[in-house]
Amino acid sequence: MTHYERIKAELLSSPKIWLVTGVAGFIGSNLLEHLLKLNQKVVGFDNFATGHQHNLDEVKDLVTAVQWQGFNFIEGDIRNYQDCEQALANRGEGVDYVLHQAALGSVPRSIADPLTTNAANITGFLNMLQAAKEANVKSFTYAASSSTYGDHPALPKVEENIGNPRSPYAVTKYVNELYAGVYARTYNFKTIGLRYFNVFGQRQDPNGAYAAVIPKWTADMIKGDDVFINGDGETSRDFCFIENTVQMNILAATAQDEAKDNIYNVAVGDRTTLNDLYKAIQTALKECDINYTQQPIYRDFRAGDVRHSQADISKAVKKLGYDPEHKILNGISKAMPWYKELIDKK
Ligand SMILES: NC(=O)c1ccc[n+]([C@@H]2O[C@H](COP(=O)([O-])OP(=O)(O)OC[C@H]3O[C@@H](n4cnc5c(N)ncnc54)[C@H](O)[C@@H]3O)[C@@H](O)[C@H]2O)c1
Repeated sequence: MTHYERIKAELLSSPKIWLVTGVAGFIGSNLLEHLLKLNQKVVGFDNFATGHQHNLDEVKDLVTAVQWQGFNFIEGDIRNYQDCEQALANRGEGVDYVLHQAALGSVPRSIADPLTTNAANITGFLNMLQAAKEANVKSFTYAASSSTYGDHPALPKVEENIGNPRSPYAVTKYVNELYAGVYARTYNFKTIGLRYFNVFGQRQDPNGAYAAVIPKWTADMIKGDDVFINGDGETSRDFCFIENTVQMNILAATAQDEAKDNIYNVAVGDRTTLNDLYKAIQTALKECDINYTQQPIYRDFRAGDVRHSQADISKAVKKLGYDPEHKILNGISKAMPWYKELIDKK
């Protein structure tokens, strides 16, 4: 039995109450699905800024009626402190573990509108952190970001070595880490920050100007549209399938005190170029009977993007017992049927 399996067995035998902020989004709705399937009680908090009711509806269809009864949704805004307090109060029942995912993602969005990103990602983060401290929760785990490595050239990325942020979004995620450190030192409220590296999988939104690369390309290929690569295609990323990310959240939330007041990389430890990603999606779609043969169209590099990204995951392996079960190709194969069904439905 792996460490993760042991933790899941413990949760099944002794269910807890979780608060997932950003629950209607990609990562939040996947956390919700996994937690409900483990018979946990979940308070969900979202203002639908980028999340969708259909993500919650889909989770409802994937769990039993009894499991779904364990879900309490609160529509609210993390920029409003009272909303955060209300979510943590959970109708008087309180919350054991917080998984704070709500934020405005996307580097280009933050460049176009830094004020709105700042309000959600810094003020909203601080509201949740303060309210969670006041509510005496057992643990507080939050979504940090690999963008915090900024222009630091070293590969693979080790948690302690960061460079200058390359976008307003990266600043906001770094400020989260700074506040988390201050709360540990000042109030002894110890949290865990998870630096996600390009998470992908089912329910990641393919629509809109700020869609991430895997859902965007997948949807374009299924529809037979042109696919654009920003730059020469040799930009690389450590793409991390959603189930690895869910595992890290559950391990972090239930971690011992020694592992807290820390930041961890969440990735696989591999590096895939955009050119290779393009071919991998094409191949996986073939398995779903979609034969996309067009060549990509190359255009300018995108402002604020880092050139290469690859994580050193040894800290998470050692301190949290992290064991990423899914490599990129296997994750892409698992996610493709969901995208096919999504586009077919339209
Ligand atoms: N997806 C990735 O590859 C990735 C990488 C690094 C970090 N992250 C971080 O992970 C977290 C989740 O990202 P995601 O990919 O699921 O994005 P997402 O946009 O699908 O989900 C974010 C959710 O937060 C909600 N939200 C935004 N502002 C809010 C507010 N003011 N009040 C309440 N809810 C609000 C949105 O409605 C949405 O449901 C974010 O903090 C993001 O910065 C994601």
